[in-house]
Amino acid sequence: MNKNKQHKNSKGIAIVTGANKGLGLETCRQLKESGMHVILTGRDEAKVKEAAGRLSPGGTGVSWAVLDVQDTASISRFAGEVLERWKGIDVLVNNAGVSDFGRFDGTAAERTIETNFFGPMHVTDALLPFMHEGSRIVMVSSAMGQLSCLSGDLRRRFESPGLTRDGLVDLMRSFVRSAGDGTSARNGWPSSAYSVSKAGLNMLTRILAKELSPKGIIVNSVHPGWVRTDMGGQSAPLDVKAGAKSIVWAALLRDRGRSGGFSHDGKPMQW
Ligand SMILES: NC(=O)c1ccc[n+]([C@@H]2O[C@H](COP(=O)([O-])OP(=O)(O)OC[C@H]3O[C@@H](n4cnc5c(N)ncnc54)[C@H](OP(=O)(O)O)[C@@H]3O)[C@@H](O)[C@H]2O)c1
Repeated sequence: MNKNKQHKNSKGIAIVTGANKGLGLETCRQLKESGMHVILTGRDEAKVKEAAGRLSPGGTGVSWAVLDVQDTASISRFAGEVLERWKGIDVLVNNAGVSDFGRFDGTAAERTIETNFFGPMHVTDALLPFMHEGSRIVMVSSAMGQLSCLSGDLRRRFESPGLTRDGLVDLMRSFVRSAGDGTSARNGWPSSAYSVSKAGLNMLTRILAKELSPKGIIVNSVHPGWVRTDMGGQSAPLDVKAGAKSIVWAALLRDRGRSGGFSHDGKPMQW
């Protein structure tokens, strides 16, 4: 992590994963404009350092750090740096993600679920000790993860109010197994690991919101819309500024009554 210490007068500390480009970088820009001190994180040191320099050439209001959300050693290292440098954090945006569009096999499924589902889960668990009453966690999800992508029986299991974190983890692992052995369609899974990863992320949001409600930590999922980025492609109707608005809305949300939801542009969506 770089050694910028100019965060004392900020309106809080925000950490964003996958912040070297796309929606993550624009979210950092908007959070910085709101007065927060923003820590950009990314898996490639040169890229995240360069992005932080573009966002704030003088370094004011911005720090950067290396964080690969798929790598538990990288997550532990980063949590250690947060403990040493920042002590408390006000916002965590789990934005890093990969897409598997056009490819469906066990390897692609594993990579997608590890990054888009287990990544946010492990990063959140590691950073929870630094959060306090009123801190916000935002999961950058997608309308492609709405539960309508699942068959009836699987959908019932996902949306059951009794679904536990262990139960959800088992479901995600069983999807990866069945993508690997070619039985996923027979078992009711869609042929998109991206959709399954975001459906799982949304259910994790519900579970975490319940778990963290006694501590006053607000957890929400957002759909940014279809946005022109490397992932979204150039035909998408929204620019990153419009897409990041949905994320920033949830990052700045103070209403504890709205924890545990899924929204686009501040408006509730169906799970
Ligand atoms: N664009 C859309 O239309 C759209 C719609 C709905 C949801 N989303 C969601 O929005 C989020 C951001 O997507 P985007 O459109 O901005 O895509 P993007 O431009 O491709 O950016 C993805 C970011 O995630 C990072 N990343 C991937 N794997 C990582 C890992 N293991 N550790 C740390 N960072 C990692 C990438 O880093 P590298 O540069 O190192 O690869 C990059 O910074 C994703 O979660 C995506 O699913 C996007």
